[in-house]
Amino acid sequence: MLLPLVILLAFCSCASAVWQMPLRRPAPDSFRTEEPLSAAASPGDMGADAWTETMAETNTFTPTNYTVVKDFFVQSPPGFNSTGFDPLTSSFGLIDRSPSRWRTFRRAVQRLNAEADSHTAYKVFYLARHGEGFHNVGERVHGSKAWDAYWSMLNGDGNITWGPDPLLTPLGISQAARNTVAWTQEAKAGAPLPERLYSSPLSRAMSTLEITWEDLLLDEVRPVIKENLREVIGVHTCDKRRTKSYIRKHYAHFDFEVPFSEHDQRWSPEWRESDRQATFRLQRALDELFATDSATYISITAHGGAIGAFLRACGHPNAQTIGLRTGSMVPVVVKAVDYRAQANELLAGGQSLAAPPRQTQASSNGRLRQSIEL
Ligand SMILES: *[C@@H]1O[C@H](CO)[C@@H](O)[C@H](O)[C@H]1NC(C)=O
Ligand SMILES: *[C@@H]1O[C@H](CO)[C@@H](O)[C@H](O)[C@H]1NC(C)=O
Ligand SMILES: *[C@@H]1O[C@H](CO)[C@@H](O)[C@H](O)[C@H]1NC(C)=O
Repeated sequence: MLLPLVILLAFCSCASAVWQMPLRRPAPDSFRTEEPLSAAASPGDMGADAWTETMAETNTFTPTNYTVVKDFFVQSPPGFNSTGFDPLTSSFGLIDRSPSRWRTFRRAVQRLNAEADSHTAYKVFYLARHGEGFHNVGERVHGSKAWDAYWSMLNGDGNITWGPDPLLTPLGISQAARNTVAWTQEAKAGAPLPERLYSSPLSRAMSTLEITWEDLLLDEVRPVIKENLREVIGVHTCDKRRTKSYIRKHYAHFDFEVPFSEHDQRWSPEWRESDRQATFRLQRALDELFATDSATYISITAHGGAIGAFLRACGHPNAQTIGLRTGSMVPVVVKAVDYRAQANELLAGGQSLAAPPRQTQASSNGRLRQSIEL
């Protein structure tokens, strides 16, 4: 079978990119898979590095439909019972527990993307919940009912302060560090490290990301802050963000999506987002990632409510019951399809009306494209 594969090469200046994207660089040597992909596994004469790069590319487009691929992780099929499940001590829930598990996983994901048509893409999202913040303590001390009805609207109770934008507790810091331990172990077994790091603009998420990835990736990848990844918006003071200047000063090595407002323009003391509205917002975040980022492995550090909304947006059967604890992480393989483009293509007899065939020669915007036949 001839499979033309278009690769964007080196000089993508990203001048036209909507987001300030970190340039993708190879994973640090120390966390490369112990069992490198063998030459026999590489298509044609591509070297291991080119192979790895190719694996990283997915089609970019604006999807109309998201579904979860249920074959890889125990938490993905319907009816999963999260009682006693700790993704950080069980290879993130990967069903295959053999020593070559991550190599098999990478290959399977690579194959899904290689065999996908131009309006289908598969991405692996690592969804991390922030470590415990002072608002979590507040809710525990006062009880969820009193918290929602009263305490969440205040900045604190005289004993602890949780608003606006609470920091991590000492326990929250150690939970984030526990994530590093899990990642170090799985990365040594070949787990694909995220090629991109995205964060909510709230301090507890950014600090968790920092602690988790400091020693593993932060020299390689600049995290990007996305407003749509923030927690359910409004009323609760813990969900009000700081100014852009504050974030820039305290999280200097993070980039902002463009545009990003100086002040929090979404939070209001009178109005709180509904679950449906949060799902719609997180679906927009998914849309943006599939439309602008060709990376396959993407880490998102966010919140319990935001991750629930993200999972609902991609139709995850256990979105309500997956029960992600503070400082925990869950991977999900998401299939995205643009049915509009697919319908257009059928109408035009195999030729898409919306998206003409891609050029395979050097194109006018300065990107060198090269066509490889597998
Ligand atoms: C997405 O596609 C799946 C599989 O074809 C289908 O079952 C589901 O209803 C679709 N969801 C939406 C929102 O269109
Ligand atoms: C989940 O498992 C726990 C312990 O094994 C059990 O007590 C609980 O009833 C199960 N929940 C569901 C919804 O099956
Ligand atoms: C503050 O802490 C003290 C001592 O632990 C406790 O007695 C008091 O009830 C707390 N106040 C509030 C508002 O929770």
